[in-house]
Formats: sequence, C-alpha cells, structure tokens
Amino acid sequence: MADQFIIRAARSEDASALRDTEALSFSDPWSEADFGQLLSAPGVEGWISWAGKRLSGYLLVRSAGEEAEILNLAVAPEFRRRRVALGLLGRGLDTLLARGVHDVFLEVRRSNRAARALYHRLGFTLAGVRRGYYRKPLEDAMVLRRRLDSSDENDPLEGQTG
Ligand SMILES: CC(C)(COP(=O)(O)OP(=O)(O)OC[C@H]1O[C@@H](n2cnc3c(N)ncnc32)[C@H](O)[C@@H]1OP(=O)(O)O)[C@@H](O)C(=O)NCCC(=O)NCCS
Repeated sequence: MADQFIIRAARSEDASALRDTEALSFSDPWSEADFGQLLSAPGVEGWISWAGKRLSGYLLVRSAGEEAEILNLAVAPEFRRRRVALGLLGRGLDTLLARGVHDVFLEVRRSNRAARALYHRLGFTLAGVRRGYYRKPLEDAMVLRRRLDSSDENDPLEGQTG
C-alpha cells in the first residue's frame, strides 16, 4: 500500500529526528542543538511530514510581519520524488499567507538542481546571488523570492497530470 503522509507542526522535542534526516540531506548539516534552539526561537515554526512512525520530511520558516524566510527543507532520501516537499511547502505557504505574509525568500545552493526545480515549479524567481555564501563546499547562494497573495492556493498537486 502507498505511504500516507501526515503533516503536523514541529516541536522542539522533534530536534533529534530532524537532525537524522538533515544529516542524510546536507554536506554541512545542522546539529540537534541547532534545531532545538531554532524551534524555540521567536517567529520560527515548522512542519513535519510523517509516513507512519518514519519522518519523511520537514520545513522550517521564520516570519516577521509581511516577510518570511524558508530556513530549511529536506525530505528523507527514501521518500523523495513523492511530493513530500510539495505537500510541506503547500501547508507552510498557506499558513504564512493566512497570517498576513506576502513575501517569501530563501537561499539555495547554485548546484542544487532538485531544489531549484522544485521552487521554480512553485513560482519562486531569482532575487539575487550571494557569492561564496555556503561552506563545505564553498558555493554561491541563489536568493529566490515569491510573492504570496490571496488568490494563491499553494495546492501541492497543482500541475499534476497523473
Ligand atoms: C529538494 C527536495 C526537498 C525535494 O523533495 P521531494 O519531496 O523529493 O520533492 P517533490 O517530490 O515534492 O518534487 C516536486 C517537484 O519538484 C521538482 N523536483 C524535485 N526533485 C527533483 C529532482 N531531483 N530533479 C528535478 N526536479 C525535481 C519536480 O518538478 C517535482 O515534480 P515531479 O516529481 O512531478 O517531476 C529533496 O530532494 C531534498 O531533501 N534534497 C536534499 C536537501 C535539499 O536540497 N533541501 C533544499 C534546500 S534549499
């Protein structure tokens, strides 16, 4: 049977599960302490996708007024290309819009073709480049932006044909 993905809000006690997926997803991963601190910081919130008891992905954002930043997004390798990221971003962007956020930013490695394709599909466009922003390895960040307005649906299955 296909996995059912359930999304719920992230809590600080999720830090160790988030760290495990983070370590499989990034060359310079955040620690459990990094996640614990962020999840109790003002303006930060997150969502976790579960497949039964297995964490399939997570999204963390920070918002202030009408602006928000995507801090972190990862999907566990065995669950990739199953629309987990689309589901998380749909949920997150809808929540931000309902709270009055109209501008969303993020940074992504220049070489990260999967993430750049995902954000392009969701309507993010290039806002700038930060030279040498990332370490391990040193790499430019592409700064992407998307305006949100009340006509947006952020339907995770938008564009799905089959
Ligand atoms: C980027 C990442 C979050 C995508 O998660 P995912 O759940 O596999 O993505 P989805 O299944 O929701 O993909 C949605 C769409 O994004 C695009 N996409 C996703 N992965 C892609 C890939 N490897 N190559 C090309 N396009 C891709 C496609 O348009 C895809 O739709 P399709 O499968 O119908 O073609 C995942 O690959 C990941 O965790 N990577 C490592 C961590 C990372 O790079 N995080 C982002 C940091 S900014």
